[in-house]
Amino acid sequence: MTGAIKAWAGRRNTRILGVGAYRPRTALTNADILKHLDSSDEWIRRRSGVVTRHRADRQETLAYMAVEAGKGALKSAGITADDVDLIIVATATRMRQIPHVSPEIAFKIGAGTTAAFDVSAGCAGFVYGLNIAHSSVTSGSARNVLVIGVERLLDVTDPTDRGTAFLMGDGAGAVVVGVSDAPAIGPVIWGSDGSRSDLLQQSVAWDELRESYEKGKPEQPWPSLRMQGREVFRWAVWQMADVAREALDTAGVSVAELDAFIPHQANMRITDSLVKELKLPERVVVARDVSDTGNTSAASIPLAMEKLLSSGQVSSGATALMIGFGAGLSYAGVVARLP
Ligand code: UT7
Repeated sequence: MTGAIKAWAGRRNTRILGVGAYRPRTALTNADILKHLDSSDEWIRRRSGVVTRHRADRQETLAYMAVEAGKGALKSAGITADDVDLIIVATATRMRQIPHVSPEIAFKIGAGTTAAFDVSAGCAGFVYGLNIAHSSVTSGSARNVLVIGVERLLDVTDPTDRGTAFLMGDGAGAVVVGVSDAPAIGPVIWGSDGSRSDLLQQSVAWDELRESYEKGKPEQPWPSLRMQGREVFRWAVWQMADVAREALDTAGVSVAELDAFIPHQANMRITDSLVKELKLPERVVVARDVSDTGNTSAASIPLAMEKLLSSGQVSSGATALMIGFGAGLSYAGVVARLP
């Protein structure tokens, strides 16, 4: 046989080598949000757990925040941009549809002409990216992969919408995935339910908006995020517990062996319900970054991970369960050792 592809000699183990975060300079309190929203500080805290969230300014673009978080992850991994073979950027808030933002990030971070692409999987995007990074290292396509979750959700949030305005925030988180002696990232349990994709969506599609503009009278308001919160809440609480259990089983890690739980920071009550449903022991450290950072979609898990590590709440090498869920409806759960 000619042209046979050489067998890849060594299936490599992977681990998360470093983590970085970027939180925009401006923090908005509930009082700031209430200038535009018919609600109360008491209701927002009780129903969501959010106390503050960050808003990116004009200079804090997706690329800017991603580069800052990415630099932090490279530093913490002890490598340079030259060592990166692939950059995966999970985001749902890229305002310019073409081109994707990841090549700009690769260029600005100094990774030259490295492979780079965006992932669109809503709040599950970071764990999707982590899985692709893991597979790329395992298969020999890359040695070090930078996975970044970055969002400017306040750009797509209607400040008067009672279902979303108090929840959302901006920011970026990043990890480096590279080679490891022993397995340190378990199999990802992922999936979607497109029959319910309308539960969380942009209020009006761009082509529908264009149509109304072309008719000379824009009937549609500017697109923003709309969520049927109660239904998404129920789905997250009931179905994500099963996904979490499957991720633990597949990785061969019991609840008793777990050190940390880092769910997507959607709502403090969802986190509390999952902790209860999974019967996590008291000693498992639970990420509760939603109180300071709000819901930052694809950025929320690496942002929360960075906070747990930098605040000393968990140590390097801790075994963590992570689960992303949201628009799509898409989800992904995984057990991994922290950097
Ligand atoms: O990141 C992607 C995944 N996202 C999520 O997983 C988020 C899931 N959903 C949620 O986090 C919650 O559903 C919300 C925080 C969005 C809403 O909380 P909720 O407890 O589900 O509120 P609800 O829609 O069931 O409304 C409860 C009550 C209603 O009043 P009545 O009918 O009980 O008298 C609403 O009218 O709260 C009222 N309400 C509000 N009151 C003050 C709804 N929104 C507000 C508001 N301020 N902003």
